[in-house]
Amino acid sequence: MMYENDENTCAILCIVMEEKMKIAVFVGSLREDSLNKKLARSLEELSPDNVEFEYVNINVPLLNQDIKELPEEVREMRSVVEDADAVLFVTPEYNRGVPGVLKNAIDWCSHPGNTFREKPAGIVGATISPYGTAVAQSTLRHTVGYLGMHLMGQPELYFNLADSKFEENSKVKPEYKEKLQNYIDKFVSHVGKFS
Ligand SMILES: Cc1cc2nc3c(=O)[nH]c(=O)nc-3n(C[C@H](O)[C@H](O)[C@H](O)COP(=O)(O)O)c2cc1C
Repeated sequence: MMYENDENTCAILCIVMEEKMKIAVFVGSLREDSLNKKLARSLEELSPDNVEFEYVNINVPLLNQDIKELPEEVREMRSVVEDADAVLFVTPEYNRGVPGVLKNAIDWCSHPGNTFREKPAGIVGATISPYGTAVAQSTLRHTVGYLGMHLMGQPELYFNLADSKFEENSKVKPEYKEKLQNYIDKFVSHVGKFS
């Protein structure tokens, strides 16, 4: 037999125990004052309460197939991806491509054993230039497709001229919030289709 109070307790417990949507976030810049870090944090701030951003430490050794035992940092990085419901890549553009540090991290997570397979994914990027990381994102799309991820096609987010789009305190200026809000809302809904 269940009493009214038991029902209330059960309802509260169910809410508290509701699983959060975990998003593994790869920021492709190690720079302290990185615009891409600021973009990632702004998207995090605008995300719903049931979403958790897990920032992946991509500052790991260079991949070398002679290394037979995975370095600890690599194992940690791979386990963040394995535990995540989705992956968000927030990438700068270096010489019309993806920064080597990000590609290295992706390669480690794909081998041995592809931790990305079947994960929903998003790609965004910030740059000081007018072209908004369009080429780097396009390059990354090939890799993400090859790895068997479910990439959100639209909307795209090219955060160009980004050095003028954040406040002193690193928060995004109010006039750009709507664009970011639209992206994160659509991305969360995209991820929801695969859970
Ligand atoms: C080696 C190097 C190559 C770059 N190449 C490009 C490029 O191809 N396209 C671009 O938009 N910006 C390029 N930039 C400028 C970056 O957009 C800028 O440094 C940006 O702030 C990097 O992202 P972060 O602020 O997250 O570190 C390059 C920067 C570096 C250091």
